[in-house]
Amino acid sequence: MEIRPYEPRDLEAMMQIHRDVGWSGDTDQHRDAGRLFYEGDTTLVGLVGGRVESFASNHDGVMRYLDDDLRLCVVGGVATSHTARRSGLASRLTAEAVARDAQRGAAVAVLGVFDHGFYDRLGFGPGAYDHLVSFDPAALRVPVPERPPVRLGIDDAKRMHDNRAARPLRHGGIRLSDAAQTNADMLIIKETIGLGFEDENGDLTHHVFLYTADRGGGPWIVKWMGWREPAQLLDLFGLLRGASDQIRNVKLIEPADIRVWDLLDRPWRKQHMTRGSKDEAFIRAASWWAARICDLQACIAAVKLPTAEPLRFNLVLDDSIGQKLSDETATAWNGVGGDYVVALGASSTVESGSDGTLPTMRASVGTFTRLWLGVHDARGLALTCPDLDAPPDLLAAIDRVLRLPSPELGWDI
Ligand SMILES: CC(C)(COP(=O)(O)OP(=O)(O)OC[C@H]1O[C@@H](n2cnc3c(N)ncnc32)[C@H](O)[C@@H]1OP(=O)(O)O)[C@@H](O)C(=O)NCCC(=O)NCCS
Repeated sequence: MEIRPYEPRDLEAMMQIHRDVGWSGDTDQHRDAGRLFYEGDTTLVGLVGGRVESFASNHDGVMRYLDDDLRLCVVGGVATSHTARRSGLASRLTAEAVARDAQRGAAVAVLGVFDHGFYDRLGFGPGAYDHLVSFDPAALRVPVPERPPVRLGIDDAKRMHDNRAARPLRHGGIRLSDAAQTNADMLIIKETIGLGFEDENGDLTHHVFLYTADRGGGPWIVKWMGWREPAQLLDLFGLLRGASDQIRNVKLIEPADIRVWDLLDRPWRKQHMTRGSKDEAFIRAASWWAARICDLQACIAAVKLPTAEPLRFNLVLDDSIGQKLSDETATAWNGVGGDYVVALGASSTVESGSDGTLPTMRASVGTFTRLWLGVHDARGLALTCPDLDAPPDLLAAIDRVLRLPSPELGWDI
């Protein structure tokens, strides 16, 4: 087995894997989308007997942590052909991809999961719940904007990406740097509606992009929204309401800025009345992403808490990613495992070593990432994650100081 960076000649074999796993069909649009997606940032391919049988692609971005932006690595696609499954190639590729981005300065990595468990072995921990909301747009209690929107299509991909990236980030919110992902998504989705508003200079201020598998019947899924100011989100929901003569059901992942149920008329009644129908109204929670710390110093430095005295403790961090790395890569970056002294306060620090006078927490990097990010509190994690161990007093003390909003990515990856 060999791992090397992607070359344009690999695309056909990768598109075959795409078809194998049901990600795309054999069309020019899918090929163009693949080219955009894999050539933009860092893609690694895995070869067996000289043939590309697996790949992992990374994309640069940022993640907001409280008030700081951290350099982010997004693992955007991992797949293996059916002939190379269970050979360990996918795990090795993903580990290499994360390690190479960590060497380039990524502080944190995220990915969308097919299920939890597989990426835990590489130090990722399950992310927070997002809310998937399904509703009748006619039930929205927001005004329909008086000025007409502009229609947006594939030629607007770059400015739609820029508008997505311009949204004010909240804790855990991410944006991707390269417009290629937005562009690639637009190429492969067929039935779409893009509507937005421009300012006096013709620049896009806010917009919504939806797609469906059934243009006549729906449902319509909001792939993304872009906005510069939170109030503009209400205009976008107003646009959805304006389309409700034709569209009976919309599904979206709730943006962190609002609670959609606040905008809906009699949400419980609609939920009961539509139960079991194609246009069922509901709100569901799902943890569809996972994250891991790649640079412990940078991640701890972003923890700025309103506490007078820093909370100090020993941290024994276990990171299994090194087992999947080549010797050459592991020499430069071998994960973040080790013994540390952590101080959480107005300016937080982490140093190698241990202090015999302090209490000790032991954790895997995945579970510690969840604690650091605010996916769950220390006492809750200690209850369900066997790899987290600390004295009850330390868990309670951490929960007293580390009061974080639930992290929401706000970007479908
Ligand atoms: C996901 C995928 C890349 C994994 O490929 P793979 O060849 O099975 O991966 P590896 O050989 O590296 O790892 C296999 C190991 O992971 C384990 N595993 C798989 N899913 C797991 C899960 N949810 N939890 C725990 N372990 C899991 C397997 O049991 C196996 O364990 P073993 O090494 O002890 O035998 C492959 O299934 C695939 O291409 N799926 C379709 C595309 C896709 O969904 N990609 C992921 C997008 S997020």
